[in-house]
Amino acid sequence: MLTGATRGVRPRFGSLLLAPATKTVPLMSNTDNRRFRSTSSMQGFSELARERSKTVTSFYNQSAIDASAEKVGERPLPRCHRWCHRWSHRCGSSSAKYLHKELPVRIAHRIKGFRNLPFIIGCNPTILQVHELYIRAYHMLSDFPPITDQDVAVRFCKLVQQLLDDHKDVVTMLAQGFRECRRHIQDEAIVRNFLDTTLCSRLGIRMLATHHLALHEENPDFVGIICRRLSPKKIIEKWVDFARRLCEHQYGNSPRVRINGHVAARFPFIPLPLDYILPELLKNAMRATMESHLDTPYNVPDVVVTIANNDIDFIIRISDRGGGIPHNIIDKVMDYHFSTAEESAQDPRMSNLFNTITNSGNHSSPMHG
Ligand SMILES: Nc1ncnc2c1ncn2[C@@H]1O[C@H](COP(=O)(O)OP(=O)(O)O)[C@@H](O)[C@H]1O
Ligand SMILES: [Mg+2]
Repeated sequence: MLTGATRGVRPRFGSLLLAPATKTVPLMSNTDNRRFRSTSSMQGFSELARERSKTVTSFYNQSAIDASAEKVGERPLPRCHRWCHRWSHRCGSSSAKYLHKELPVRIAHRIKGFRNLPFIIGCNPTILQVHELYIRAYHMLSDFPPITDQDVAVRFCKLVQQLLDDHKDVVTMLAQGFRECRRHIQDEAIVRNFLDTTLCSRLGIRMLATHHLALHEENPDFVGIICRRLSPKKIIEKWVDFARRLCEHQYGNSPRVRINGHVAARFPFIPLPLDYILPELLKNAMRATMESHLDTPYNVPDVVVTIANNDIDFIIRISDRGGGIPHNIIDKVMDYHFSTAEESAQDPRMSNLFNTITNSGNHSSPMHG
């Protein structure tokens, strides 16, 4: 499998997005009713009620959200995320002003995406909960006063941090919601387009937000979330250790990993996307290797990772000798819900290993599924 990344002269954030909230104001559920009843202070009660009523009326009818969704998101300018070594009032406050203006627009676009989902999907309680989280985030950000001094900027940072925490489970919730209404989905393309856009936008929003918060931290190797001298080899090694531990736990052994090519390369880059991608590709390679050598688990071919770097791009190639992807599933491997975890659990040799190691009939594990 090949993973390539384009490295421009300056960081390009592309289109970004936020994770899910646990502090959402509940919909009409028993839990919510209980929560309202148990609110001891009247003030807390009325605040929650006001916030909730605002959220609910915003599901399909909110002119402010419509107006924001008409605007086009703006890419961050280098001056908002300047290459300064320390947080300064000037760059910190321009970054805060940019976020204050930009986040509601990006979030309004996401809300529009939820509104455009087929009715049967949009009504799924888990998906509605995420929809509500976005509406709530929109209001909290657009109600925030203009950032005029440092005190307000500090309060804004707290709000951004709170929203990041609130949205941290959004991916899991969306996966659960779509799984729940899978049998009602006729057209996979609708789900794919929605998730592609939502998850890409979410990553963008989280990168912008995390970058703004990280600008306040003193770390000489980083400017915000941008690592000034990222070593692809080091980050690969980190995830190789992680994937090998999982693999050993599941299969009793793991392939060795050789890293070659431009191992000394270093350049400014944002590690976050690599932290998502590398563990998944390494797990796939190790799993394929182990499962195609079940009779000789202590004698398996190495996985080889090659780094290739020039002034414009870098490429990370992960090669394994696990037999490759079968032709009959090649069109499906990029589908959100596709996994062959169940099949490996059905292999009698694997089932024994599974039962001994995990003592469970669950088909998904940290290695796959
Ligand atoms: N390196 C690989 N070698 C062989 N098959 C692979 C490899 N990577 C992915 N695949 C196939 O693609 C499928 C989808 O991969 P993925 O989306 O990571 O889901 P999962 O790992 O949960 O099965 C895998 O189940 C496997 O059949
Ligand atoms: Mg996988």
